[in-house]
Order: sequence, then structure tokens, then C-alpha cells
Amino acid sequence: MDGHRRRHIPKYSRFRHLIPAISAISAAILLLYCFLSFLAPSPDHFHHFGHHTSFDDHTIDDDTPKAAPIFEVPTSSKMISDRNLWSTSMSKFYFGCSNATSQFPKAQSVTRPNRYLLIDTSGGLNQQRTGITDAVVAARILNATLVVPKLDKKSFWKDSSTFSEIFDVDWFISNLSKDVKIIRELPHKGGKKWSPYSTRVPRKCDERCYHIHVLPLFSKKRAVELSKFDYRLANELETDFQKLRCRVNYHALKFTAPIVKMGQTLVNRMRNMGKHFVALHLRFEPDMLAFSGCYYGGGEKEIKELGKIRKRWKTLNISDPEKERRQGRCPLTPEEVGLMLRALGYDKNVHIYVASGEVYGGAHTLAPLKALFPNIHSKDTIATKQELLPFSLFSSRMAALDFIVCDESDVFVTNNNGNMAKILSGRRRYFGHKVTIRPNAKKLARLFLEREKLTWQEFSSRVRVHQVGFMGEPNERPGSGEFHENPKSCICEKPDAKVKLVGNNKYIDDDDDDQEEEEEEEEEEDGIVSNLRYLFNETNVDDVPLVYEENELEELLSD
Ligand SMILES: *[C@@H]1O[C@H](CO)[C@@H](O)[C@H](O)[C@H]1NC(C)=O
Ligand SMILES: *[C@@H]1O[C@H](CO)[C@@H](O)[C@H](O)[C@H]1NC(C)=O
Ligand SMILES: *[C@@H]1O[C@H](CO)[C@@H](O)[C@H](O)[C@H]1NC(C)=O
Ligand SMILES: *[C@@H]1O[C@H](CO)[C@@H](O)[C@H](O)[C@H]1NC(C)=O
Ligand SMILES: *[C@@H]1O[C@H](CO)[C@@H](O)[C@H](O)[C@H]1NC(C)=O
Repeated sequence: MDGHRRRHIPKYSRFRHLIPAISAISAAILLLYCFLSFLAPSPDHFHHFGHHTSFDDHTIDDDTPKAAPIFEVPTSSKMISDRNLWSTSMSKFYFGCSNATSQFPKAQSVTRPNRYLLIDTSGGLNQQRTGITDAVVAARILNATLVVPKLDKKSFWKDSSTFSEIFDVDWFISNLSKDVKIIRELPHKGGKKWSPYSTRVPRKCDERCYHIHVLPLFSKKRAVELSKFDYRLANELETDFQKLRCRVNYHALKFTAPIVKMGQTLVNRMRNMGKHFVALHLRFEPDMLAFSGCYYGGGEKEIKELGKIRKRWKTLNISDPEKERRQGRCPLTPEEVGLMLRALGYDKNVHIYVASGEVYGGAHTLAPLKALFPNIHSKDTIATKQELLPFSLFSSRMAALDFIVCDESDVFVTNNNGNMAKILSGRRRYFGHKVTIRPNAKKLARLFLEREKLTWQEFSSRVRVHQVGFMGEPNERPGSGEFHENPKSCICEKPDAKVKLVGNNKYIDDDDDDQEEEEEEEEEEDGIVSNLRYLFNETNVDDVPLVYEENELEELLSD
């Protein structure tokens, strides 16, 4: 109890008053405070979202003398200047390289006349984007003509837009003309539409797998339709297929002109506010939080509300929210993202564009982030209703606007491991390793839990150590090994890079505090993914008969 109260000791500037009042008893502690108050003349307070107040009382050791909340965020982060916050250090030695090799024949010479491939994508905009990219490569593997993929209109995101309302379809077809023959629609023969053979390929299907599962079908029908086409292509393929993936994803897939224009308007407005801007992709929807099985500090109200949502998934049973959190399986809260950014050295005055759907708890949840970074913006604050009208009724078009702003931002940060986070991470690597901050959730989770015991100095320096390898630098240890997240076959080193790189920028695995690790080492995945696995009782979250609401859930997660 005592420990509990201590954390809420008043925030008014006791540091300043302490300086003249140094007493002999706690000289050492006070010296530290002097140092801190020098750095932070007027500590500002923010209300803790308090995600752990009911869980970690045991972490307070009542025997040690303590005087005050030592964890205070300084008003300015200016003192941290050992790192360039706005660019990655080694990026100038790399470049995106997706040209085909000389061994890759032109489409005309490989396309077989009676093979047409149709694709139904699935999920939200970004998951569909991976599907479209992989579809082109699948068509090439099969020497087939690709029909422009159909977008998913029935997903959780409920968007009726067609391919050509989101992407520039003429550009798509012409830019890939050397690689794959693409047509808008199946040919009509004698006024009758062909009916395709419809099937589904296994997840992460490789070349051989397409030969086995799809190729024989062309002897039955001229057209084969692959449904629910998401992550149906292996991560590892031969180089020319990987490079084709990059040509599709980074060059051939362009949003339509109205989307690009509005997106650019938003980018310009952000750029006009300051020299640099940060974009934050925040996923904090109620359903997602409920499903994660974590506790986010909202007390009884939250437990009741999220518990109610959780009941929708009958088979789901989450018993230990505390463990979920300790293992870094919970999406960072807006406050935690803010603390991480401040610790990394981003100043309070930085302008942040927030891309998000519904945020659980709304303004209340965002308040602690706003206290750390008062300049928070979104589509709705920097554009008028009128300007957004052509987009606002279509979730994919709105997502496309966010995609553009996040892509163009100087620093992109996420609190999640969803499709948008992955695809933008890969894209930003390809286009020059723009700073992309993915939270090292496992390490940060423990740090957040004990932050009340740390000074800001200690806290921030540990955040910086934990984030090494998670900042979008070249040669970082790739995340899950997903191609779209880290398109390594399409990133080339400049000839002069070798010399400069020696001894530099190696991934540092800071396992310093692993002795306190009580849990067995687990797969690096967030709670949401592991819960999905559990729910579907498979490592492969698919090809199981799904009841409707589980299907809907899977799509919610497929942003
Ligand atoms: C890729 O090909 C284009 C021509 O299509 C050429 O201009 C460019 O220099 C090539 N890039 C590389 C890295 O070879
Ligand atoms: C595709 O065409 C190439 C070149 O003709 C050939 O080597 C390859 O075996 C063909 N693959 C299929 C699946 O038809
Ligand atoms: C495809 O678009 C890129 C620009 O993103 C361009 O450099 C490339 O030459 C285009 N390729 C073709 C075949 O039009
Ligand atoms: C679900 O919860 C019950 C009761 O807490 C427990 O006995 C059971 O083992 C759990 N099932 C799984 C698969 O974790
Ligand atoms: C998953 O399925 C297998 C075989 O169908 C079964 O033995 C196992 O108990 C299931 N696991 C869970 C967690 O339901």
C-alpha cells in the first residue's frame, strides 16, 4: 500500500526546493537529485496510464530509503546528442536494387497461352498489398497470365473499393509488362465468361509447391482462381523472384492519383510544422487489446469491458495478464511509446502524426502521450472534413493516406507487429534505411515495469541500449524473417561500404539482465499472434474451419 502511494507523490517541483535543503542523512541521494534538477529545471508531470498499479506492489522494497518519485521526464531532451535522431548512420552505404538479372527472360517468352491466374486477396489494405505482390510472382512461377487481383470487400474493414480505385491499374500493368502479362479481366469466349477452377494453396508455398498444387489444374481449366491469397508464397525464393517481389511492391504498386495527391498534401502540412516529423502507427483497438490478454491499467472498468469482448472467443482463455506483459507480448500503450521516444532523445516539441483506428479509452488514453509530446496530429486535425470526404467512407483509402504519411515521415514508429508495420519497415529499408523504430517489446516491458525505481537517466539509457538493433539500421537482425519486412535480396551494398563498416553497427544483444529471467525463452511473437495460434490450434493460422467471429477477428488483426 505504502509503495503504491509513494508512486503518486506530488510532482510539483520538489527538485528545486531540495537543492538548498541538503541534509546529511540522504546526502548521496540528494546529490543525484541535484544533478537531475540541473538537467531538468522544471520536471513536468504526466498522469500515468498506470498499467501495472495493481500488479507490481511486490517490486517495491520498503527497506530502502526513498524520498520521492525519482522517475521524472525532463522537459527537454536536448542533452542527448550522441546519435543522429533523424537518419540511420550506415544507410549511405546501401541502396535498393531490384533490377532483374540477365538470366530472367522477358514475360513474352515464358507466358503460356492457356494459363490464366485469378487472385482473391484477403485482409486489410496492407495484407492485401502483400497478396498482390506475391500474386505477380506466383503467376510468373506458373508462366501464367495474371488477371488484376480482386480486393477483399468482405473483410473486417468492409471496403467496397476495387483495385483500380486504390491502385493505379494502368501503371501496374505497364510497369510489370516485362515480368508478367497482366490483363484486367478474363477473356470472354463466344460471349460466355470462363468459370475458373477455384482453390487455395497452402501458406508459404514455394516454387515446387505451386508446381504440385496449381500447375496440374491448368489441364482441367484454362483459368485457376486462388482464394484468400495472403502469405501464400514462401519467404525464401530464388533471387530473381525476390527482386520481382520488390519491383511489384516498391515500383509497380502506386496508389491512384487522388490518393497520392491528398497524401502528399498531408505530408506537406506535417513538413511545414517543423524541420522533421515523426509518424506513429498506433494499434490500440478494444478488440485487439481484449484479444491480447493483457491488462492496460484501466482498473475495474477495463477488466469488465475487455472481459466482455473476450467472451466472444469461447475457446480463448487467458489466465495470466502479468506474464503476458513481462514477456513483452502486449502492444505498447501510447504513454509507453511516448516514454520510449523521449528516452531515445526526441524532443518534447517534435510534431507527431498519429495513424490509428479507434483507440481504446480515446482521449483519456492519449492524454499521457500528449503530455510528453503536445504536438500530436492526425488526418482529422490537419485536413478538413471536406478534403477527406472522397476517402473517409472507405477504410482502405483512409489507410492508404496514413500509409503515405508514415512512409514519408523522417521517423516511423509503431506499437505493434501488424502488416502495416512490417510492410513499411521493409519499404523504408529499401528506400534508404529511413529511421524505423520497432519497440524491443520483451526488453522494454520489464523496464517499464520497474521504471518507478529508476532515474530518468537510468531509464533512458537502458531504453537506448535495448533499442539497438530495432531502429531500422542496415544489417539489423531481421525480425521474423518475413520477406516483406526485410527484403534483403533487394538491398545492395555500395563497393566502398566494406571498409567503413568494419567493427561498426554490429547488432548488440544486451542479455545483461537475463539471469532474472524466470520464464523459458519463447518464440519472439506478440501475444496476439500466439493467441491466434492457440485459438486455431495450429502453427499455421489457416485452413481450419473458422466460425464466423474468429474469422472476423483474424481479419481485424490483418491490417
Ligand atoms: C536498373 O535498371 C534501370 C533501367 O531499367 C537503370 O537505369 C538502373 O541504373 C538499374 N539499376 C541498377 C542498380 O543497376
Ligand atoms: C516456365 O517457362 C520456363 C521457360 O520456358 C521453363 O523453364 C519453366 O519450366 C516453365 N515453368 C512452368 C511451371 O511452366
Ligand atoms: C517501373 O517504375 C520504376 C519507377 O518506380 C521505373 O524506374 C522503372 O523503369 C519502371 N519499369 C518499367 C518497365 O516501366
Ligand atoms: C484454460 O483455463 C483452465 C482454467 O484456468 C485451465 O485448467 C486450462 O488448462 C486452460 N487451458 C489452456 C489450453 O490453457
Ligand atoms: C490441438 O490439436 C491436437 C490434435 O488435433 C490435440 O491433440 C491438442 O490437444 C490440441 N491442442 C489444443 C490446445 O487444443
